[in-house]
Amino acid sequence: MNFEFSANTLNNVSADVIVVFAFETVTRPKLTQESAFLDRLLAGIILQEMKSENYQGKLGELLAIRTPEKVLASKIYVLGLGKEADFNLSELRNAFSSLAKNMKGKASSVTFSLLNSKEAGFDSGAQSQAIVEGLLLGNYQFLKYKAEEKKERELESVIFARCNKGIQAKIEEGIEKGKIFSQATKLARDLVNEPSAVVTPAFLANLASEIAKENKDIICNVYGKEQIKKMGMGAFLGVAQAADTEPKFIHLEYKPEKIADKNKIALVGKGITFDTGGISLKGDEHMVDMKMDMAGAAAVLSVFSVISEIKPKASVMGLIAATPNLISAKSTLPGDVVKAFNGKTIEILNTDAEGRVTLADSLAYAVKKGATQIIDLATLTGAALVALGSDIAALFVNDQELGEKIKKAASKAGEKIWELPLEKTYKDLNKSEIADISNIPSSRYGGTITAALFLEEFVDGKPWAHLDIAGPAFAAKKHILGPKGGTGFGVRTLLNFLLG
Ligand code: BES
Ligand code: MN
Ligand code: ZN
Repeated sequence: MNFEFSANTLNNVSADVIVVFAFETVTRPKLTQESAFLDRLLAGIILQEMKSENYQGKLGELLAIRTPEKVLASKIYVLGLGKEADFNLSELRNAFSSLAKNMKGKASSVTFSLLNSKEAGFDSGAQSQAIVEGLLLGNYQFLKYKAEEKKERELESVIFARCNKGIQAKIEEGIEKGKIFSQATKLARDLVNEPSAVVTPAFLANLASEIAKENKDIICNVYGKEQIKKMGMGAFLGVAQAADTEPKFIHLEYKPEKIADKNKIALVGKGITFDTGGISLKGDEHMVDMKMDMAGAAAVLSVFSVISEIKPKASVMGLIAATPNLISAKSTLPGDVVKAFNGKTIEILNTDAEGRVTLADSLAYAVKKGATQIIDLATLTGAALVALGSDIAALFVNDQELGEKIKKAASKAGEKIWELPLEKTYKDLNKSEIADISNIPSSRYGGTITAALFLEEFVDGKPWAHLDIAGPAFAAKKHILGPKGGTGFGVRTLLNFLLG
């Protein structure tokens, strides 16, 4: 998809389709200013058509109007932006995602002009970023394994009309960011959608090495089984020992050319390439999508795939303990005790609570490597789906300032998160009779919280945020920004966070 500019008004841009925008109101839908300008030029045919077709302006709602000769394009589409009071960048992103899907096979070029900053509440840079993300993510498909790629013709060019040189630079910047954010999100989706037979620990490690090879401000160290053992990551090893595939501990590090910010941020991703549950085997229904259990790792790698382009001011580590959670004669058994990287012992009472066990070592490693802020992303608990449903991630923080920054980053990205408490009185639930801590709580209630409290034991009081992305990492059905499967959740939040 190409993004172009034209100084012309909408009627004088040559494109297949002109897109105008309408807000839904209690009475009749309202055109945005630039759209109303075109309508007046066409003697009110747009508003007329909207009225006769009972068009509402609901988010993503489209109405096609054949155009008179005064206009170069052969069609005008009215695109609904929803209620003006609810309007934000998410709505704009979503509206353009619907547009991209609807234009498939119908048009190869569209033109529109941005809302003015006042009516949008966002400047043209932020608007164009959201628009590009909507267009690119809305078009995403994972067709690699389909015999016949039934790919419909997608939009080829998108023309920003009424662009004077003054605002073009801002729009270009927004487009660039939108492209980078989408590219990273799509990589995370691909990694989740690929079968676990492809996305093995070695595959993730190779990808990390490739990323480091391509960018001179990134280095990558990968540790195999023997080194993991030597380093004292007994918890990670306990999860990994059933499998024949070698576990990999991945350490990526981005260092800015000039270090303006002394922070060292650690991004930690849960990297279970498939979760069978181990000896505490999952039932069919719960196992079927468990190739997605590395979505946290996918998000971290995807952020690193573009980190040299967005150039954060602080150093950033990316840490992933990658292994499948399999079942074999070598499996860790319920009742076994493992020793984590920080010396704490963990009694494994359920081998299906493996994510927290691998994260224990990853988090303790982040602390040891001098992280000043730690953010982990993990498809950690089914209980997160019970608590917040499939669209919202649970956020836990031991540092309110970090929490606020993450909430802001997520809201800008259009990713939904909600904070849950690190309730101290629930800590007792994680007590073990014979070890320092148990990997499952003694109560089945509050499972997302008790899992987070478990992780907290390994961050040594450092500013830390935990995102339980079990719900939103994988869509059970197609959604407004993409198809069923990996969503790339977390990528854009992290990128916004790093950009500060
Ligand atoms: N990977 C799962 C959590 C999960 C469930 C992610 C559904 C996405 C969708 C995790 O390893 C797990 O199995 N957690 C257990 C923990 C329990 C044994 C304490 C769970 O949530 O059932
Ligand atoms: Mn599990
Ligand atoms: Zn898991």
